[in-house]
Amino acid sequence: MGVSAFSTACRGGFNRLQEFRDVWLLMIMKQKQVHIVTMGCQMNVYDSEQMLRHLASLNYRPTSRLDQADLILLNTCSIREKAEHKVYSFLGRLVRMKRLRPDIIIGVGGCVAQQEGYHLVERAPHIDIVFGTFALGRIASLVQQVEDQKKQIVDIDPRGMSEPLYVKEPVFKAERPTAFVTVMQGCDNFCTYCVVPYVRGRETSRKHEEILEEVRLLVENGIREVTLIGQNVNAYGQKKGHGCNFPALLERVNGIEGLRRIRFTTSHPKDMSDGLIDAFCRLDKLAPHIHLPVQSGSDRVLRRMKRGYVRDFYLKKVAKLRKVRPDVAITSDIIVGFPGEDTVDFEATVDLVRQVGFDNFFLFKYSDRPNTPAARFSNKVPEPVKRERFSTLLDIQGALTTKKNKALVGTTQEVLVEGPGKRSPDQLTGRTPCNRIVNFVDGMTRIGQIIPVRVVQAFSHSLLGHPVGKGHGRNPGENGGMSYAA
Ligand code: SAH
Ligand code: SF4
Ligand code: F3S
Repeated sequence: MGVSAFSTACRGGFNRLQEFRDVWLLMIMKQKQVHIVTMGCQMNVYDSEQMLRHLASLNYRPTSRLDQADLILLNTCSIREKAEHKVYSFLGRLVRMKRLRPDIIIGVGGCVAQQEGYHLVERAPHIDIVFGTFALGRIASLVQQVEDQKKQIVDIDPRGMSEPLYVKEPVFKAERPTAFVTVMQGCDNFCTYCVVPYVRGRETSRKHEEILEEVRLLVENGIREVTLIGQNVNAYGQKKGHGCNFPALLERVNGIEGLRRIRFTTSHPKDMSDGLIDAFCRLDKLAPHIHLPVQSGSDRVLRRMKRGYVRDFYLKKVAKLRKVRPDVAITSDIIVGFPGEDTVDFEATVDLVRQVGFDNFFLFKYSDRPNTPAARFSNKVPEPVKRERFSTLLDIQGALTTKKNKALVGTTQEVLVEGPGKRSPDQLTGRTPCNRIVNFVDGMTRIGQIIPVRVVQAFSHSLLGHPVGKGHGRNPGENGGMSYAA
């Protein structure tokens, strides 16, 4: 007993010495700066934050200044050709910088890196590291190797990381009261136009315990709303032996004290179970908004896209959702100009858009992607036709969205205050439960509060409001506001 107490004391002294040496080493090591450019979807936003945590172990701190960075990382997207062009044009801007400051390290990660691998360094030899989506967790060791050995590295090895990336420490101070939490990644659906299954691998769900712990930690650090993200979130936990499906996960997240709102994205219509639809009336924190990409209103096109549902199936899901939650906002993704899409197909999409009455949608012109079956399909739709269909649909939805926004004038909405607005120093911006942006002026409200705001004016992309109610926002402690420096 005495001996072990003695050795513990010695170890304690030794540990303290080691700690002292580590702190001293950190002090003499140059504090380095990393600038991350994040392109693409929310998955990349989440991954970039995790990369910052990994790089903290090499003494890198984030900077918003590209010209001050020692390490520049591009977290890329390859969903459409345009997204890929963005990567090369950004890399073009870095040629001169690298010539003037050869010591800066340039890394390209994410979906374009996974897809292009060695081709990237052939086209842009000033890149130091290419790290694919599976190598994100190895970023610190890759940077260390370049620092030590000044060599060029390409790591697109798909082994070694099946789970979404997550590192607990260090915890960053939240600037906004909202956060993304990746719950699953990858996709097994192989829609014929889509590159995601090739660049992100198969569907893999995180353990629910780990997700809950992450959400709790976020809430402790001021987060009031989480968006659970994945390429196909409603397929969460469907694989054998996982033991927790998506509605069950939502229920557990709903039970976290201090959390005010839950959102999720993206859902696949074919995995929209009755249990998930019911969650919209059962779970008080689940915001009444769902992003449910339909892609096309034509059965012929849906079949060629290999979406796994027909138009009528989609419409029935929408009807069920509205039955359990009449105020639910429904948004979508639509592709125009898919190979072989004729006027009849396009009219079917226009008709579906009118029939559903989406709150809004993201509209895309079909773009050939490497290795996808649709890239080899004949009957490609000419660019001017795609453009015309794009603007027709955009006009239709623009009018629908504005009409829906105008219907909210005079109503009072619960707004989660997310940050400063763009128009004036005392303007704040937040979102309604249905995910509409509301701007308002109020010197007393704090970021992170949920306050009632009366809508006074509607625009196509946002609403203007006035806070209402006695003493709103005057007691930040009560509903957990963050301090706000205007
Ligand atoms: N997993 C989601 C979509 C993720 S990708 C789902 O299936 O619903 C986001 C959107 O990009 C897709 O919904 C689709 O509308 C669009 N998209 C994907 N590949 C595309 C391509 N090759 N050309 C044009 N748009 C594409
Ligand atoms: Fe792509 Fe289809 Fe998977 Fe969505 S469901 S990520 S569109 S393959
Ligand atoms: Fe783009 Fe990759 Fe997301 S291709 S949309 S960044 S999964």
